[in-house]
Formats: sequence, C-alpha cells, structure tokens
Amino acid sequence: MLEQRRILLIVAGGIAAVKIPDLIRRLRERGAAVRCILTKSGAQFVTPLTLAALSGDKVYTDLFDLKDEAEMGHIRLSREADIVLVAPATADLMAKMAHGLADDLATTALLATDKPVMIAPSMNVMMWTHPATQANLSTLQTRQITVVGPGAGDLACGEVGDGRMAEVPDIIAALSRHFQKDVRRGPLARRRAIVTSGPTHEPIDPVRYIANRSSGKQGHAIAAALIAQGADVTLISGPTTEPTPDGVKLVKVETAEQMMKAAQAALPVDIAVCAAAVADWGVSNPAPGKIKKTAGAKPPTVKLAPNPDILATLSKPGSRRPRLVIGFAAETSNVVKNAKTKRVSKQCDWIVANDVSPGTGTFGGDHNTVHLVTADGVEDWPTLRKQAIADRLVERIATALSGKASRE
Ligand code: CTP
Repeated sequence: MLEQRRILLIVAGGIAAVKIPDLIRRLRERGAAVRCILTKSGAQFVTPLTLAALSGDKVYTDLFDLKDEAEMGHIRLSREADIVLVAPATADLMAKMAHGLADDLATTALLATDKPVMIAPSMNVMMWTHPATQANLSTLQTRQITVVGPGAGDLACGEVGDGRMAEVPDIIAALSRHFQKDVRRGPLARRRAIVTSGPTHEPIDPVRYIANRSSGKQGHAIAAALIAQGADVTLISGPTTEPTPDGVKLVKVETAEQMMKAAQAALPVDIAVCAAAVADWGVSNPAPGKIKKTAGAKPPTVKLAPNPDILATLSKPGSRRPRLVIGFAAETSNVVKNAKTKRVSKQCDWIVANDVSPGTGTFGGDHNTVHLVTADGVEDWPTLRKQAIADRLVERIATALSGKASRE
C-alpha cells in the first residue's frame, strides 16, 4: 500500500519526535518516499541531519530560506506529496491548523496543501483534554483531516492518560488504510456519487418496450469526469451502447423502477447527478408473453402508469439526501423558464437545462448547449462537447463541496 507513496512528514516539537527516525525507516522499508519539514521546536528533539540521513532527502526547515524557495517553494513542497503527515502534532500546531495560521514553513505548507492530511497528536493529557484542543480537533475533523491516536499511557511529563503519540506501527497502519481507501486522488477523493444515465425501457411485453432517444453520452461523460477527479462513482445506466468509463461501479437497469431501486441502494452519497432520461410512465400491466397480432383483432391499447421520479425522491429533505443533487431538464421550449420551475418543484440544487428539440442534435450528438440553473441564478454555457460540459460541471461540484465532510 505504501509502495511509491510520497509522504510529506511534518515533525513538530514534542518528545515523541524521537520516534520519528524509526517511523521514517519503516516507511522507507515499505517503499514510501519521505520528505521532512522540521519545525524549529521539532529540531530541539531530533536533528535535521538524522532526518536527512534516514529519509535520503533534504530536510526543509525555514520558510525564508531563499534557496529553498527558488528550488522548491512551500506550495510545491506541499503539492508534491500524496499525503501530509504531521507527527508529532502538538497542541500548538493543531491550534494553528484549526485557525489557518501560517507563520512558518510547516503551517504554510499545511495551509497551501491540496492533499489529504493526517495528524498524530502528542501532548500532555491536560492539554489534550482541554476544551480548546478538543474544539480544534473537531474543527480539523470536519475538514476531513485524519487523526491517528493519541493513545493512553505514561506520558513523558510523568502524568498518565491520553496524549501519547500513536505507536509507529499504528501510524503505518493508518497510512496504509488511507491509501487502501483512497486509491483515487483528486479534489473529489473519498466523495461518493451516483450518476443516472441513458434512457429507460418500459416493457410492453417481453419483446417490445417504450423508450426515448437518450444515448447516455452526457451521463457517462459526467461519471468519467467524476472518476477523474477522484470520486467513487456508481453509474446507474439504462440500456446504452456507450462504453463504461474505467473505474465506475456500473449498475445496469432497464426500467425506471429498477433505476430508482439502484439509486436508493447506492445511498448514502455526497453527489447525485440525474442525467438519465427516465420514462415518466411505465406500462401498467406488461404482458407476460408476446402480444400476438391476431387477424382482424383490434390493435391492443397500452395503459400507462406513472413511474417514480428519481430526482425528486433523492432531493427530498432528510438525513439521506445527498449534499448536492443535480438534475437535467430536457426541454423543447421555454428551456430556462421550465428548468427553473423544475429545480424548485423537484427540490434539487442545480438543473442543467438543455434544448432537446429536433434539429439541435442534443439526443445522441456529441455537443450540447446548456444553462446551469442554481439558486443563485442562471449561467448560459457556450456550445461544448459533452465531455467538456461534464468537466465543467464536475469542477463546479468539486468547488461546491470543498470544505464539506464526506459521506462514508
Ligand atoms: N427524472 C427522474 N425520474 C423521472 C423523471 C425525470 O429522475 N421519473 C429526472 C431526470 O433524470 C432529469 C430531471 O428529472 O434529471 C428532469 O427530467 P425531464 O425529462 O426534463 O423532466 P420531467 O420530470 O420528466 O418533466 P417533463 O417531462 O414534464 O418535462
């Protein structure tokens, strides 16, 4: 799990820093690359030379070392890692992280990073249980920072209790777990998403069905774009000939009922994008055998019954509601006006409105012209390839969700 993973290790000033050389040695044995930032107080407990020798890399200490800034700015330093590990994380450093202070290289890198952060707190039991530290801890946890330890035991200060830095094997296990879970990287790593795509087929009898012209191109492109940004995607697709994007969990369905069930089974998720052209009505009583054409008999009548509305169901307020629910509006007139009404009536967050009139080439085509309708207003996007629309939409999703805790 740790093979070829790049770990930026921030070593702060606590007695547990003496365990860090052993941590580095074991991480490197497992194939990880370790690069260290040593804080000023960390250097009271462990020398830069020791860390450099064990990590096989330069140790970074000073924000204002111009040579470092020229060779490797703090931003690059924090971005060229797969994870930032703070060990030991002192009460002071946790407080600075919680409040966004950036007064040295370690805190600046922590503020500038776009990578997952893990901390291994280490401090006196009273400091650990102090409401200030606990409040800072909660703040950090809501930002999806992983906390490993601390454990209970004898503390260096002579007291006994919580505050002992997690043991080296426990930190290694937490890192391994992280990489196991976070096989994907990107701004949507660890976000769960459902995408519905394609048409539905509503059977009339075993050989005939009611369908629509949806190709699934847009929905599949959105699933692929979400994957590319690191999300864990369940693609619930009606019958299409679109290739399945790599990395998605594909659930193939035919009917709206099946699509509804599959969407509910995939909950909880952070994001739901309903791009499918779901049939509004199914056949109320599909024939179990092929309906025969008997000479002289009247043509059969097909009685329709309403299908469940997947978008509206997912959008209902409640604890299982995805944080962001996005629907499409397929319209042939009054595109934006109808989309605005749909957004409100279905209680979703955003609607991607598109004109599907004959002649626009939307259904089945590679391009689309859409309007993004949100609570803040309407954005008219230029005509773009469906893939580009997907990329833009997913970029917007990542921005909207940044800083919000994910559903696991
Ligand atoms: N939708 C859904 N389940 C349905 C019908 C629609 O999830 N049974 C979703 C679509 O995936 C899309 C949005 O609702 O995200 C709007 O679909 P659209 O076909 O434009 O509108 P309808 O709700 O079907 O309304 P109308 O046909 O009257 O325009």
